[in-house]
Amino acid sequence: TIGFNAQGPDPTQCKPALIPHIDTWRVLEKYYKLGKFKAIGISNFNQKQIQDLYDQAEIKPHNLQVECHILLPQKELFEFAKKLGISFTSYATMGSPGRPSKNPDEPNPTEVPLVVELAKKYNKTPSQILLRQMIQRGIAVIPKSTNPERLRQNSDIFDFELTQEDLTKFNEIKLHKWLFQSFWESFAKHHPYFPFNGY
Ligand SMILES: NC(=O)c1ccc[n+]([C@@H]2O[C@H](COP(=O)([O-])OP(=O)(O)OC[C@H]3O[C@@H](n4cnc5c(N)ncnc54)[C@H](OP(=O)(O)O)[C@@H]3O)[C@@H](O)[C@H]2O)c1
Repeated sequence: TIGFNAQGPDPTQCKPALIPHIDTWRVLEKYYKLGKFKAIGISNFNQKQIQDLYDQAEIKPHNLQVECHILLPQKELFEFAKKLGISFTSYATMGSPGRPSKNPDEPNPTEVPLVVELAKKYNKTPSQILLRQMIQRGIAVIPKSTNPERLRQNSDIFDFELTQEDLTKFNEIKLHKWLFQSFWESFAKHHPYFPFNGY
């Protein structure tokens, strides 16, 4: 959603590129209509940006990808996208622990007591509980791993089901944390299209 004109290695020195979203979208629509893309979507858009694009788009966005995990469950945005028929993808489902901008003191979704308790109950890892909770909400997950064993674990989440009672307990988590805040704000805070005000 946020474009910059590359001007060297320091991202804070890049000038915002003010290409309207709809202009970029027209290119995606073109290749979708040519059959080159099976689906086209958006990422890091807020509700207003989604609605504006939706209203102008000939091919409506198929998917929205945003930061979404148990500390930032994105319930309102999810319901908004659902009403428009846009499927939803969570990034940082497990808290994106390998992120260079990670602060060592920040909360880690895998260490939330409810997640640890459910991992014991189902004999799964905390990461598997987080992924499973998300897909049971109807949200797609795209966990990233360079480790073969963790790659296997991350797809081994279809042989158990969290109960409705388990799922309800996630609503009791009061800790709210936007994990990518320092990353986005370090270079994009003043971009006119910055989508995260109100996070
Ligand atoms: N649209 C956007 O702006 C945006 C922003 C961020 C990320 N993304 C995308 O989202 C996807 C997910 O990446 P992410 O970094 O956000 O979040 P993530 O999947 O929550 O975390 C990935 C990190 O977790 C570790 N990991 C993976 N599986 C694990 C497991 N089972 N147990 C413990 N640790 C595990 C990985 O390390 P190892 O490799 O050592 O396993 C890696 O460092 C990526 O495809 C990324 O490109 C998109």
